[in-house]
This record gives sequence, structure tokens and C-alpha cells, in this order.
Amino acid sequence: MSIAIYPGSFDPITNGHLSIIRGGLVAFDKLIIAVASNPKKTPMFSVEERTDMIRESAPEPDRVEVDAFDGLLVDYCKKRNARVVLRGLRAVADFEYELQMANMNRHLYEQMETVFIMADDANFYVSSNLVKEAAKLGGNIQGLVPETVATRLTQKLAKTTGG
Ligand code: PNS
Repeated sequence: MSIAIYPGSFDPITNGHLSIIRGGLVAFDKLIIAVASNPKKTPMFSVEERTDMIRESAPEPDRVEVDAFDGLLVDYCKKRNARVVLRGLRAVADFEYELQMANMNRHLYEQMETVFIMADDANFYVSSNLVKEAAKLGGNIQGLVPETVATRLTQKLAKTTGG
């Protein structure tokens, strides 16, 4: 059975991530979506909230597992007996960061391979950061994130702004 780990911050999951998950399910028998519990930036959503939102919106629960990890991604891959990491590519701007990360991961674990899937054109410009910024400033985020995420974002912003 072919397995790939799809790691990320998923703060929160967007329709862009979902397009990568759909592509990953064409290429692999099983996907493990691995939420980094300590991402570099302070997340808006807790790791539980982020994993819940993925479970609520990802397709094919029998082929998609949602988990969280701490520390190095390569250590998590070894623990899960997986050697393929799946990442999404959007614009050219993603390329340099992804190249660095893929090479660093291969340096840390030489048997590991990173496979890239292009985001579909409707989601080429969608990122968690832009969605959060648009939502904070009152922009319409319908169609950019799953319904459950839009609802939770609205609730979270109402709490943090006291409104
Ligand atoms: O969605 P993101 O924020 O681009 O995901 C980045 C992530 C979480 C995949 C990356 O930062 C990561 O793998 N973090 C775990 C720590 C690690 O292994 N760092 C070395 C890899 S360069």
C-alpha cells in the first residue's frame, strides 16, 4: 500500500489544501495529514482545532488519517514507516522554500522523497495567512475555505475582538 505524509501548519485548512489532498488520493492509497503542533509562527487555532477542522472537511476518511506531530518531520516519517512527503505548490514563490525544505529533509533522512502536487487553478492564490488577513479585515472568504472553517474563523475573530 502506498502511503504519503502531507505535513503542514493547516492554520486553518483551506480549499487549496483540499485540492492537494484530492490530488494525493489519486497518487497514493493512503494519506496521513500531519499537523505541526509547534509551527514557526504562533497559530490562530490550537492543534486540536486544526485537526478537527481537517477531519470535518477532508474526503474519504477511510483513506485519510489526521494526526499531529512535534519535532522533526523526518522523525515523524520514520515513526510512521513512511518515506514519501507530499507538499502542494502554488505560485513560483513557493518553489524556493519548498526546494530548501525538501533538500534539508533529504539531508536529515536520505531515504525520504518529497512529491509535489500543483494546487488547482481555482485555489492557486489561496493561503491560510491571506484567508486569515481577509477575514480579520471583514473580507468575504466564502469559497476559499470549507464552511466549517469559515464558521470557526468568524467565531474566533468575534471572541478575540470582543465583538
Ligand atoms: O504549512 P507550512 O507552515 O508551510 O508547513 C511547514 C512544515 C510544518 C511542514 C515544516 O515547517 C516542518 O516540517 N516542520 C517540522 C520541523 C522540521 O522538520 N523542520 C525541518 C524541515 S526543513
